[in-house]
Amino acid sequence: MSRRGLLEVRGLTVAFKTQKGKIQAIDGIDLELNENETLAIVGESGCGKSVLGHAIMRLLDDIAVVRGSVRFRDMEVYEMDTTALLNLRGGLISLVPQNPSSSFNPVIKIGKQIEELIEKAGKVKNSQIRSKALEYLSLAGFSEPEQIYESYPHRLSGGMCERALIAMSLSIEPELVIADEPTKGLDALSRKNILGLLHKLARDASMIMITHDIKAAETCERIAVMYSGEIIEEGPADMVLNYPGHIYTKGLIDAQPSRGMKPIRGRHNLRSHNAEGCRFKERCDAASHECNNHPPLRGLNDCRKVRCCHA
Ligand SMILES: Nc1ncnc2c1ncn2[C@@H]1O[C@H](COP(=O)(O)OP(=O)(O)OP(=O)(O)O)[C@@H](O)[C@H]1O
Ligand SMILES: [Mg+2]
Repeated sequence: MSRRGLLEVRGLTVAFKTQKGKIQAIDGIDLELNENETLAIVGESGCGKSVLGHAIMRLLDDIAVVRGSVRFRDMEVYEMDTTALLNLRGGLISLVPQNPSSSFNPVIKIGKQIEELIEKAGKVKNSQIRSKALEYLSLAGFSEPEQIYESYPHRLSGGMCERALIAMSLSIEPELVIADEPTKGLDALSRKNILGLLHKLARDASMIMITHDIKAAETCERIAVMYSGEIIEEGPADMVLNYPGHIYTKGLIDAQPSRGMKPIRGRHNLRSHNAEGCRFKERCDAASHECNNHPPLRGLNDCRKVRCCHA
């Protein structure tokens, strides 16, 4: 059965005007996501993953110059009024932010913070808010949810904090979850638990999982690989991981501990966001004179796209 479209991003470009000049954080991103679909966005630090996640929710601050279109269902996010925008962020899309410990207010107990969010979403009666908060803490694997509910955030370990944050973000039962680095800094067991938890709690939603972690990306249906503000490869997760079309994607896979941790030579830096031609060429062993032309993201077949003239 075909699934209905939920999110459509077209030509999304974000630049920051800073004292050091313009930073082109993301550049001409096109993305689609269907109902109940999971998409991983992978790439090295600074390639624009979080900016993309925040831009979809129109959460960037005023120094960001945003162009292009983000449509959620039939609504253009960048044309929404304040009420529609609050509804989008408080009920339809939920962000699991990148830094769990700084995402909670340190002086308010966990339970109260979850309750506030559920109340704002306005999907359940006031009398059911507390039980909904406890239900999600319990779903997040806390055997004594009342105890977590009464705790201040600093009492929780890193893994517990991430679980509580996922419980909070998912307690509003959104249609789309954007999880930003949900496994960062966790050991292998906690990582596995967190991924299981995210997929379990988001089973009725769509999800964009932003991650460095190829093992985490593997748990999603599709993968989009970013480099210097652009998508450079996209396709079904098993195809992208087993038969990477871009040399950068292959490099990311080979840099994983399970594949011998072979690093990609050179470093991603801000200069490459503005580079002429292929932005990866300085680090690419296959680079040729053709790479001086900026490669388009072209279809390899019906479901795969790659931005490389050698693919
Ligand atoms: N508010 C801002 N002002 C100026 N530049 C910014 C701002 N936010 C992000 N950037 C720049 O935009 C680029 C993309 O940043 P982003 O946070 O999206 O990277 P990322 O892929 O999420 O990296 P990481 O994996 O480290 O989280 C970076 O070069 C960053 O320095
Ligand atoms: Mg980030």
